[in-house]
Amino acid sequence: MFGTVTSKISTTIKTLAKIAPTPWVLIVIVVLGVAVAVVTFWLAVYPGSADINSAVYRDPTQPVAARVEDLLNRMTTAEKIGQLALVEKNSIHRKADIARYGLGALLSGGGAKPEFNTPQAWLDMVNEFQSYAKNSRLSIPLLYGVDATHGHTNVLGATIFPHAIGLGASRDVDLVRRIGATTAQEMAATGIHWNFLPSVDVVQDTRWGRTYETFGADSKVVSELGAAYLEGLQSRVYNASSVIGTAKHYLGTGDMVWGTSGNPNFKIDQGITRVDEATLRAVHLPPFAAAIKAGVGSVMVGHTTWNGVELAASRYLLSDVLKGELGFQGFVVSDWYGVYEIPGGEYHAVVTAINAGVDMVMLPYDYKSFTRYMWQALERGDITTERLDDAVRRILGAKFAAGLFNSASDEDSGLNQLGSAEHRELAREAVRKSLVLLKDTQHTLPLNKQTPRIIVAGSSAHNIGRQSGGWTVEWQGIDGNWIPGTTILDAIKNTVSKDSVIEYSLEGDFGSARQPADVGIAIVGEAPYAEGWGDSEHPTLTPEDLQTIAQVKAASKKLVVIIISGRPLDIRPYVDEWNTVVAAWLPGSEGGGVADVLFGDYPFTGTLPVAWPL
Ligand code: GLC
Repeated sequence: MFGTVTSKISTTIKTLAKIAPTPWVLIVIVVLGVAVAVVTFWLAVYPGSADINSAVYRDPTQPVAARVEDLLNRMTTAEKIGQLALVEKNSIHRKADIARYGLGALLSGGGAKPEFNTPQAWLDMVNEFQSYAKNSRLSIPLLYGVDATHGHTNVLGATIFPHAIGLGASRDVDLVRRIGATTAQEMAATGIHWNFLPSVDVVQDTRWGRTYETFGADSKVVSELGAAYLEGLQSRVYNASSVIGTAKHYLGTGDMVWGTSGNPNFKIDQGITRVDEATLRAVHLPPFAAAIKAGVGSVMVGHTTWNGVELAASRYLLSDVLKGELGFQGFVVSDWYGVYEIPGGEYHAVVTAINAGVDMVMLPYDYKSFTRYMWQALERGDITTERLDDAVRRILGAKFAAGLFNSASDEDSGLNQLGSAEHRELAREAVRKSLVLLKDTQHTLPLNKQTPRIIVAGSSAHNIGRQSGGWTVEWQGIDGNWIPGTTILDAIKNTVSKDSVIEYSLEGDFGSARQPADVGIAIVGEAPYAEGWGDSEHPTLTPEDLQTIAQVKAASKKLVVIIISGRPLDIRPYVDEWNTVVAAWLPGSEGGGVADVLFGDYPFTGTLPVAWPL
């Protein structure tokens, strides 16, 4: 065969040499002939490579559905498989693999930052990854996803809003919508268009380390606030692009049974949801229905199991209920490594999850083996090409709807907005509205700004890291003042009159011989944590915090206790000794919001988002 081809080529060249007037003309003819051959071969192997620049999918005036179909018809099987892979950015061996495997999405897990944690460095990092995708044959842009859990808080300098539990206490739909929109602006400024938020879990056991990521225990409140957050988050930002939201963690996460975690380090996170279907539908499904009505682009499957089935393997819940009954048109993404927790081996897990209704797999590590599994499954018919096309159609639909094919690379489209005064003022408003007055039997509040002497103490009085909690710069947060923001202590100092004296002691040591202060403020609570690392059988105050409160009480005429926590803490044995107690949840960078209410510039309006036994 090979000999025949070469002899034909040599005969052709000899014939051309006889008719070509000069050797140069012969060379030009041969080069042109080769070029035609290459293009012909390319078009044969890669249908749709021709006329790409004038293709329907490249035309922003065309309907999304038409653009999706045009692109889908141009894609090879390899390019389709790549769209189903979500890879964490530190697992990309060679950036060229992004185009080589046609990867659909990358993510930064909690704390996975560029070498220097600045907004510009984030934008540069994402644009570099994006450049490899856009230089691929069909220039299909990457989705880049993060957990902007309470603002774009992986990024140092971003506005740090109160965590969702505090927003649940505010019950303020408009406020939450504005926070979603502001978060999207700060994300898009760094080139990131996918947020794995909001959590619309309905927490039923507040020993769970992820309680603070939820809007609370009331399904209706969670539905309203989750939808509002998405309306804000997915609103248009720069160059007509927008951010894709993710309703998570489908379904029944928050109602697991203590001690059933599949992770040996955890107690309830990633555990078993043991509720009947009626409860699942009455309590946990409505927030997802509301999110779909709000146009959520993606839904994330939880790590939990229900009725003995890993959620990522549940065709009933993912396809029949979510996509069928609720009519979800976006794409389903699995949670971190969650697909491979389906028993029976990795190949079986991939086949099971894709056929159950998972469209994109948060691998998040090994895209090469995933690609191999997918090829095998398609060749064996374990996964049909129709199912592959359905998944790719959903993913591309979200990318087109977010304007990712339209926007030029995200040049500096507002980096100076991160942590802007306007955004921090919104965060401060949210802090004010999140505060819940648990008790004030002697009407100590509001405090007078002219109070002569106030003592302040406690583990969370001067600690931005504790105010912010987990998912802040680092996955597990940072205990200390390494993060920009205003501590509650500084906010108090900024609020009182110039004649007032504010004394601070971390442990409440103010010297017993002194005259009692007019007011003593003890600000105490939890150290930062995230996910199952925060599971706690008996959330309460530490002995050190209790000792601090006792010392402040002994050194002042009136005591105010402020609790900084991701969930209710059991204070029943002590609370009768305290006249005034405030729940401040995890307020974030704007401690000024606490002082605003403490000194009466604003009233207490927050109400409990979960039960707090007193
Ligand atoms: C985590 C969490 C999920 C998060 C994802 C990406 O394991 O369960 O909420 O969005 O991984 O960080």
